[in-house]
This record gives sequence, structure tokens and C-alpha cells, in this order.
Amino acid sequence: MGTVSFASSSPEETRALGEALGRVLQEGDFVGLLGDLGAGKTELARGIARGVGIRDEDVTSPTFSIVHQHHGRIRLTHADLYRLTGPADLDGTGFHELRDGPGATLVEWVDRVPRAAPPDAMRIVLLDTAENARELVVTTSGPRSEHLLQRWKDELLARAG
Ligand SMILES: Nc1ncnc2c1ncn2[C@@H]1O[C@H](COP(=O)(O)OP(=O)(O)O)[C@@H](O)[C@H]1O
Ligand SMILES: [Mg+2]
Repeated sequence: MGTVSFASSSPEETRALGEALGRVLQEGDFVGLLGDLGAGKTELARGIARGVGIRDEDVTSPTFSIVHQHHGRIRLTHADLYRLTGPADLDGTGFHELRDGPGATLVEWVDRVPRAAPPDAMRIVLLDTAENARELVVTTSGPRSEHLLQRWKDELLARAG
């Protein structure tokens, strides 16, 4: 479905973009983050968590435990699949149960495991374009994620105006 790009010129701006997304995130939404190490996935995830009403210092890359659960305005399941090599690696982590339960889901390195994302998901690819510059390329794959993208754009406009 849709593709939109946002430019960021600092870590703070990436967090602010994430915060706007977190504010409009609803139960059932799924957001996958992609990009090289150091691209800013965790910075963005912290902003999203802040927008959901979670203390962002609690949000680190959950590399060692794979999946973390946070509670704010809604429940947020945060996973990092960096260390995984295949779908079987998610068995026994509780990931699918959390993803399909109440709340929203945020997954770093989502495409390491093809079945991690539902068919209708938002994906955000972070591109390291210069020392402090990043491009966020956002794609949607169904009506739910398209609606989330629309709410995010509306929220950014409302905050700018
Ligand atoms: N515009 C920007 N947006 C996000 N991070 C940035 C930006 N400019 C510089 N950085 C730096 O890039 C690094 C991103 O790290 P992190 O979010 O942990 O990446 P990842 O989780 O993708 O490996 C941080 O050190 C951050 O300060
Ligand atoms: Mg990270």
C-alpha cells in the first residue's frame, strides 16, 4: 500500500517522530523496524514507548531476552530478533501469544523471521544518510497499517501547527 519518507537530523528528532507514532498507536497495531546497526531503531523505539506513556529509560534493545512487555496507555510488546536465525527460534519465547493478545507490537529486525509480522503491518526502514541524518521509509501492507500511517501524519501535522 502506501510509502512515505520522513527525514530526521538528530536523535531527538527521531525520538519525536517516534513519540508522535506512539501517541496514536492502538491495540492490534504492529510496527516492524529495519535498518543496519546504529541506524536508530532503538532511538525510534524509545520515542514510540514515550508516546505510549512508557518511561523510555525502561526501553533498551531487548537483545538478550528477545521480547519485553511494557505497560502505558496500552500494552506494548517490544522484541528484537537480531540474534534469531529462523522462525523456530521464536517458539517458546511467548512472542506470538503476546503479539496476538491485547496491545500493540514493536519489533526490531523484523524480517529476520518472516512469520514474525502479520500480513497487515507497518514497516519502518531507517537509513543512515549522514552523520546525524536519517531517513525513515515507512510502508504499509493493509488497511490497519494504512490507517495507523494516516493517524501518525495527522499527529505530526497537529504538533507542527
Ligand atoms: N538522526 C538520528 N536518529 C537516530 N539516531 C541517530 C541520529 N543521528 C545520530 N544518531 C545516533 O545513532 C545511534 C543509533 O543507535 P540505535 O538507536 O541503538 O541503533 P539501532 O537500534 O538501529 O542499532 C545512536 O548513537 C544515536 O545517537
Ligand atoms: Mg537496537
